[in-house]
Amino acid sequence: MALELSQPSNNDDLLNCIKQHCQFDFSGYAPAFIERQLQRLAQRLAAGDSAALLAWLQAKPGDRSRQLRDAITVNVSSLFRDPSFFLSLRRQLLPQLAQRGRLDIWVAGCARGEEVYSLAIVLAELDLLAHSRIIATDLSHQALAQASSGRLCGLIASAEQQRYQQAGGRGQLKAYFEHRNGQLYCRPQLLAAVQFVQHGLPQALLAEPVALLICRNVLIYFGPALKQRAIGLFEASLMEGGFLCLGDTEAVCGLMGPTWLELETLGLFQRRPEL
Ligand SMILES: C[S@@+](CC[C@H](N)C(=O)[O-])C[C@H]1O[C@@H](n2cnc3c(N)ncnc32)[C@H](O)[C@@H]1O
Repeated sequence: MALELSQPSNNDDLLNCIKQHCQFDFSGYAPAFIERQLQRLAQRLAAGDSAALLAWLQAKPGDRSRQLRDAITVNVSSLFRDPSFFLSLRRQLLPQLAQRGRLDIWVAGCARGEEVYSLAIVLAELDLLAHSRIIATDLSHQALAQASSGRLCGLIASAEQQRYQQAGGRGQLKAYFEHRNGQLYCRPQLLAAVQFVQHGLPQALLAEPVALLICRNVLIYFGPALKQRAIGLFEASLMEGGFLCLGDTEAVCGLMGPTWLELETLGLFQRRPEL
């Protein structure tokens, strides 16, 4: 019987091309997620299967690798997504951290901006915005361009207002946005403290540790080894006693070492102060 030699699949070739041209490696992502996204993109970008997508990519590998890298990512978000998280920020985490002085915050995987805008609103309402410095990062260049423009993807309807109120907001969410050229934009003063930077986890980013690190609904796409590396980076990037906020379905059970204290709210961890 002839031995079957394993052949590199088209998916491996696609990911290798992105790695070569964008210096970003998707190989640690959950295989089912990558398979699903590449199948979808093969239809959308090349009207065919993974072989057609590979041919499309190889025709212009530089530009199209960046396009494909961005398209693999899922950039959905919303204002005050998971209001109970923003309520914990408002009532517990931010007031506690603010006692130490200036608040340095990293929002990793900020997508198209709604999460950062929501955070800035809570900081403004706590009178902490002027004392805060926020770095908002995402792998997707396209998503980040949208986030930094301040332009909101959707509308502010009753669902958004309701989530804002569930997150402890007392005013009108609309008041934080303004109309320009028929579009809704976050008011510039809210974003004055925010720096938007393109960055892919788990690459190192910060020289100085932050007090609060928010990375929600990003690790869900990673395989266990990549999650572990990202958590190692978070540990190195947070100051002692600082908070790490993950999404509530991130499945990091067994990956958080003794450095982390799990808080009562799902997905919230504190970096233990040194004993
Ligand atoms: C589903 S969105 C989550 C947005 C927001 N954090 C929230 O919870 O609403 C996931 C975001 O993570 C970004 N992302 C995926 N992999 C990443 C990586 N390795 N490094 C940084 N961002 C990444 C995607 O581009 C996408 O914008």
